[in-house]
Amino acid sequence: MLGGCAIFHYIRDDKNSNTLRIEENFDLKPYNTFAVSVRCRYFVESDSEAAWFDFAKQYEWEPEQLVILGGGSNFLFTEDFDGTVLYPTLSGITLLQEQGGEVLVSAGAGVIWDDFVAWAVERGYGGVENLSLIPGHVGAAPVQNVGAYGMEAGDTIDSVEAIDLKRAVPVRIPGSDCHFSYRDSLFKHSWKNRYLITRVTFRLRKKPVYKLDYGSIREELERLGVPLSLSAVRQAVTNIRTSKLPDVQELPNAGSFFRNPVVSAELAAKLQQQYPAVPLYPAEEGMVKVAAGWLIEQAGWKGKTLGNAGVYDRQALVLVNRGGATGVEIARLANAVKKEVFVRFGIRIESEVNIV
Ligand code: EPU
Repeated sequence: MLGGCAIFHYIRDDKNSNTLRIEENFDLKPYNTFAVSVRCRYFVESDSEAAWFDFAKQYEWEPEQLVILGGGSNFLFTEDFDGTVLYPTLSGITLLQEQGGEVLVSAGAGVIWDDFVAWAVERGYGGVENLSLIPGHVGAAPVQNVGAYGMEAGDTIDSVEAIDLKRAVPVRIPGSDCHFSYRDSLFKHSWKNRYLITRVTFRLRKKPVYKLDYGSIREELERLGVPLSLSAVRQAVTNIRTSKLPDVQELPNAGSFFRNPVVSAELAAKLQQQYPAVPLYPAEEGMVKVAAGWLIEQAGWKGKTLGNAGVYDRQALVLVNRGGATGVEIARLANAVKKEVFVRFGIRIESEVNIV
């Protein structure tokens, strides 16, 4: 029996049911930025930590039958999901304490990531300004270790509050235990679907340390012609992202669909010999990160369409729903792109988006 069935009855009978919303056979179209219409067996939403704790006590943990959803900007649903979707919507951003040149700030898992960045920038707290306009919710930031323009959320995460769904206890996990790396953390591996993140505590700087050397931040700042500040950087990043990435309202998408592949130094050197223009970046442990967008563009897929799904014409890492695409169509396009890149370059690119 699905763990979800037990919950369903429990919640209906419980006097606190107003703090949990539960739906059955629920259409996830408004909850995924690819805007694909699929149904899940149960959909559970709450903005209350106490309610999630009560829920966990009754819930029979079945990680395979579970999806924990944030802003839905990192999922591709290819078929109806015969399991339970948990949707935590805890709100609020609180300044917890000031310690020397740093502040500790707690944000609810359901806070829109960019609202959190705006909050920090307005108050002059540095550390997340380069992460402006990244779609999704705060609760997804530690899972994905969201990153852009030389900054990663993991660098600022002090701790993560969560409900351990396996043991039904609230926990606080230090950021240093999460094993943050490029677009990765333990939440995607051995901790997958185990912790329902409720709040994230960030350690931000009162005196910002700017990172301006990635992408075209410096050029954009010069173009803006304003003095350097957190808001100027936020504006520059916002402008760059808006010019390169499609608006989900117009062209549903999940941001970068693929991760940049990390290859050995030998393979990178060979590649560079053959293609001197290939963009390479140093990665962990002497490995080299290759720009997947470049590989896809060279493989001839940029701007192409397959069925109702397409590769965005201004950033080849992004797959878009050109209107009415099913999850299967988008997955088919992703596979065609992966295959071509492998045939051309011998490099396997992996999706960063979760395919359910
Ligand atoms: N490139 C191409 N063709 C393309 C796309 C990129 O040749 O279609 C080349 C660019 O010219 C550049 C290099 O690839 O030389 C890197 O491109 P870009 O700076 O746009 O960054 P990216 O590696 O493609 C990553 C993140 C983005 C993030 C940017 C900026 C991943 C998977 N993606 O993209 O994240 O905004 O860096 O830091 O790491 C997202 O996660 O949704 C996202 C957009």
